[in-house]
Amino acid sequence: MPTSRRALIAANWKMHLLRQEAKGFCQRLRSRLAETDHADVVLFPSFTLLPTVAEQLAGSAIAWGGQDVHEAAKGAHTGDVSAAQLADVGATWALCGHSERRQDHGESNDVVGRKAVAARAAGLLPLICVGETAEQRRQGATFEVLEAQLVAALAGGPWPFALAYEPVWAIGTGETASPEQAQEVHAFLREHLSRLLGAERGEKVRILYGGSVKPANAAGLFAQKDIDGFLVGGASLDADSFSDIIGSSGPG
Ligand code: PGA
Repeated sequence: MPTSRRALIAANWKMHLLRQEAKGFCQRLRSRLAETDHADVVLFPSFTLLPTVAEQLAGSAIAWGGQDVHEAAKGAHTGDVSAAQLADVGATWALCGHSERRQDHGESNDVVGRKAVAARAAGLLPLICVGETAEQRRQGATFEVLEAQLVAALAGGPWPFALAYEPVWAIGTGETASPEQAQEVHAFLREHLSRLLGAERGEKVRILYGGSVKPANAAGLFAQKDIDGFLVGGASLDADSFSDIIGSSGPG
């Protein structure tokens, strides 16, 4: 549970939903969150849905951003989207280095770092994702892998930003890290952030957990000292289950 840090709950829709579904989701979410002010809420829809989401969320406190951003400011990069283009349609966040991008598009740790810098240059807040695979955990390499991802992600000095710890073995598998397992990694990341950025900034960074988060397991995870919120995939596709997760990520 965050002390001085405000909870942050993010929805990663991945390659799901059509405009009509996104519209219905936003309307339901707005009505469910009308009384909620204990957390920051961000949606990461596909690029095609951004105008719909922008329209539906206008005048609300719910933010939204791109699921990816190119490292270059502009240029010959067919199929990619720049940070300035995201900002131009009203996005305020960019997801950087999700494990599916690293896997499907060969994004290296260094590329992820450059994406975070590009996002900041356009005034977006990067949500930087790190996480180990099942194989890396079996080999006892978890902390080494995370350290390399973190150091490279911060090499260009993006600030401010948020971090998401998403163990690859927990994404979309139904196998969540236990609250203790997640807290162990979050504490490691927090300590490292403090070393890299100084204690004051290190304490400010919100570290989200991601990987099979559901209404049923959110409260137990959120009760951990260094878990400041969630990056939710599957359970974020339904406005009620996403709202329930937000509800479980509050005081008490
Ligand atoms: P999941 O996905 O909640 O479906 O496991 C999380 C993510 O990939 O961000």
